[in-house]
Amino acid sequence: MAFSFNFDISSHIEQNDSNVTINEKEDKGNQDTAKKQSQAEEINVPKKVKEAHEHKHAPDLLSHIENSVTETVTIGALPPLLYLNESVFEQTAPEREDAEKVLSQSITQNSDLITGVYEGGLKIWEGTHDLLEYVDDEGEMFSGKKVLDLGCGAGLLGILSLKRGASKVHFQDYNSTVIEQLTIPNVFLNCEEEGGDENRDEEGSPSSKQRSVEKNHSLVDRCRFFSGDWTSFLSLIQRQDPTLKYDLIFTSETIYNPEYYTSLHDVFHKLLAEEGVVYLATKSHYFGVGGGLYLFESFVQEKNIFQIKTLREMDQGLKRHIVSMRFKKSPS
Ligand SMILES: C[S@@+](CC[C@H](N)C(=O)[O-])C[C@H]1O[C@@H](n2cnc3c(N)ncnc32)[C@H](O)[C@@H]1O
Repeated sequence: MAFSFNFDISSHIEQNDSNVTINEKEDKGNQDTAKKQSQAEEINVPKKVKEAHEHKHAPDLLSHIENSVTETVTIGALPPLLYLNESVFEQTAPEREDAEKVLSQSITQNSDLITGVYEGGLKIWEGTHDLLEYVDDEGEMFSGKKVLDLGCGAGLLGILSLKRGASKVHFQDYNSTVIEQLTIPNVFLNCEEEGGDENRDEEGSPSSKQRSVEKNHSLVDRCRFFSGDWTSFLSLIQRQDPTLKYDLIFTSETIYNPEYYTSLHDVFHKLLAEEGVVYLATKSHYFGVGGGLYLFESFVQEKNIFQIKTLREMDQGLKRHIVSMRFKKSPS
């Protein structure tokens, strides 16, 4: 049985009783902006709440990556990034505990997304690759930075930040299943790899593997992992550390649902450092869900807190974009 990584339009329409308009044409540009703004304002309260939790990694680090089958993404001069092989992950899903029942539901409903239940983190989306390529081309520096990988899924953007010297990397995903079964294992895989092969004997025995992982506790200890919806995540972070601000927030393919725009914007507003930058990857439009770049841009412009700037556009198939968001400066 295969996960389908396409939005299940019919299930969205059934489940989503808000006033989302599904536009039939891609890239309508900025026409109807005023109408879209008012739609975004009307539908800004998420109906479902998933309480945020912090996930501590298991004392036995190896339990996360035992017998794992991995793949590697290598882009330009970036360090290779390891992640769990998607088909093996899927095939072995029935063997694993999943309190949220996300694995079974996404299989039986054959869907990328079940609004309020499963928000798509089990797959690596195109936007993640676009952002990795952008970082490679721009030579973005992470050294000493506090980074948030928001809606992280597999966590490749956070992992890159970690490998490139970020001082803190926080990973957030809606689903605890994604954080526990995918994000944390992927981080450990890369921390192990960071330790290098010098600790392995010729057979790569478990004991040498163990040493390699242990060597990288310091890298893992720079990471924290959170599940839950954005409103609840923001409250949790602010309760734990009211002064925490991130220098960089990466967020890929997270603006598909206009119902979440208010909570997403609140996270940026409250958790981005004054001189910080949000890097956001998105498609022009998400069919069946209603969100996309133009609707989100209108929403941000209406709020008047951030300057939103297009950095890159990719034209193959459904148009994709990378944008940055920085706080507007008050005129001096
Ligand atoms: C389409 S997936 C993208 C995953 C990953 N960023 C990538 O590019 O592969 C959207 C992600 O946003 C997160 N997300 C969406 N809506 C959310 C919400 N209301 N609260 C918290 N997280 C949300 C989900 O956890 C999910 O991982």
